[in-house]
Amino acid sequence: MTWDMKIINGTIVTSSDTYEADIYIKDNRIAAITSESLAGEAKETVDASEKYILPGLIDTHVHSRDPGPTYKEDFYHSTKAAAAGGVTTIFEMPNTTPPVNNAENFDLQNENLQSKAVVNYGLWGICLGHLNNQNIAELHKKGVIGFKFFWGYAVHSKTFQLMYNYKPGMEDVIPPFHDGEVYEMMEEVAKTGQLFAVHAENNDLIQTLTARVQERGGKSYEDLLESRPNLAEELTVQTGIEMAKKTGVRFHVLHVSSGKSVDFVKQAQEEGYPVTVETCPHYLFLSNEDYDEVGPQMKVYPPVKYKKDQERIWEGIREETISHVCSDHAPHTEEEKDGDLWSIPAGMCGVESLVPLMLNAVSEGKLSLSQVVRVLAEEPAKLFDIYPAKGILQPGADADITIVDMEKEATLRRENLHSKSKVTAYDGFHIKGWPVQTIVNGTTVMKNGEVIGEAGQGTLVTPVSHRNGTVAE
Ligand code: DOR
Ligand code: ZN
Repeated sequence: MTWDMKIINGTIVTSSDTYEADIYIKDNRIAAITSESLAGEAKETVDASEKYILPGLIDTHVHSRDPGPTYKEDFYHSTKAAAAGGVTTIFEMPNTTPPVNNAENFDLQNENLQSKAVVNYGLWGICLGHLNNQNIAELHKKGVIGFKFFWGYAVHSKTFQLMYNYKPGMEDVIPPFHDGEVYEMMEEVAKTGQLFAVHAENNDLIQTLTARVQERGGKSYEDLLESRPNLAEELTVQTGIEMAKKTGVRFHVLHVSSGKSVDFVKQAQEEGYPVTVETCPHYLFLSNEDYDEVGPQMKVYPPVKYKKDQERIWEGIREETISHVCSDHAPHTEEEKDGDLWSIPAGMCGVESLVPLMLNAVSEGKLSLSQVVRVLAEEPAKLFDIYPAKGILQPGADADITIVDMEKEATLRRENLHSKSKVTAYDGFHIKGWPVQTIVNGTTVMKNGEVIGEAGQGTLVTPVSHRNGTVAE
């Protein structure tokens, strides 16, 4: 037997345990995990002494802007940034141009992304109400990873693009969908058994409050929070949960920012409903108190809220109400982000800083490495039905592996990011605990911070039920 790769002397981390063992890789899969030395040469031997070996980490929420405004980011850069940051699989958001709204556009997008992918990728499908309810089943058959609905956003009637700065009365624009239409989308997605994931912000309330705050000339971060308050998220979360209970859909709250939203999800879970919630580093490591220092770079939607919310969200991770953490990587150029708070776009880079920030939290005693494995590998893999192919290190699993060095210390610098845009809220953050090797499909794509993977190495990830052929093509 010749092994493709052998990883020796490392400590393997699971969501409940750590143990010392060697990993043997053959044909893109993990062939064996054992503390005995197996016979046979290895083409490559990785010495992981003093390092921890984690299942390949997953970022379920990435906007690579490709195809679309690729001057901000493209798939080659976002997957290169993922590799650099210890991420082996990303799920690409569907609000591209064209969006992933039907089977044909799914194929087009897969073809577009495949040749650029440095890491593995899954594709989200988009829900556009009456514009594509009839295409939900075919997207499911194609192997989308889940369905996303941008609740409260208007849609351009010709291009199906989301209108970020919608004002009533605009031409060629379909106003935000009504609750009845959302209910129908849920019914449609419920038939597939896949996740219905929502950007949860009540647009009606935001329109009213924004007009009020702008009229009095409000310009500060506190004004922004007044115009997009916790209530905007909480109303949508509550409505969504209640409608999900009736339709039976698996309901997922994206990028939670309000502590009370976590309470609502927790209650629904206790009642036995399939309601889940994720959060992002900006809601864990930033609060309104950081705005003076960080500035407009940290403007995201939903906005980063208060310390109290931050604390409740941390608690949500520890008590396991929150399934996982993802980046909401949403790059804009530095020029675009430089301006007054109302007119600059929301979003920042995140895919490359996700893992270092979470490892640093381990160094600070906020959570354990096993909890990192839970929220960045095991739970996202289970939630999106790619487990146990991914999300766990065991024989038969895909050879996606992230090796981390918890002793390595360095400062995160914007100029070192691999994305096209360098917009980050974490420039100058001192971090202890870094990914030092990223292995995708049995091949090293990053070693000691240097990306050596090439475009085209990543492959499409579809749910296990799709892979098994349970879902017919
Ligand atoms: O801040 C954000 N930016 N939040 C979103 O949900 C979308 C994103 C973007 O695409 O720029
Ligand atoms: Zn997003």
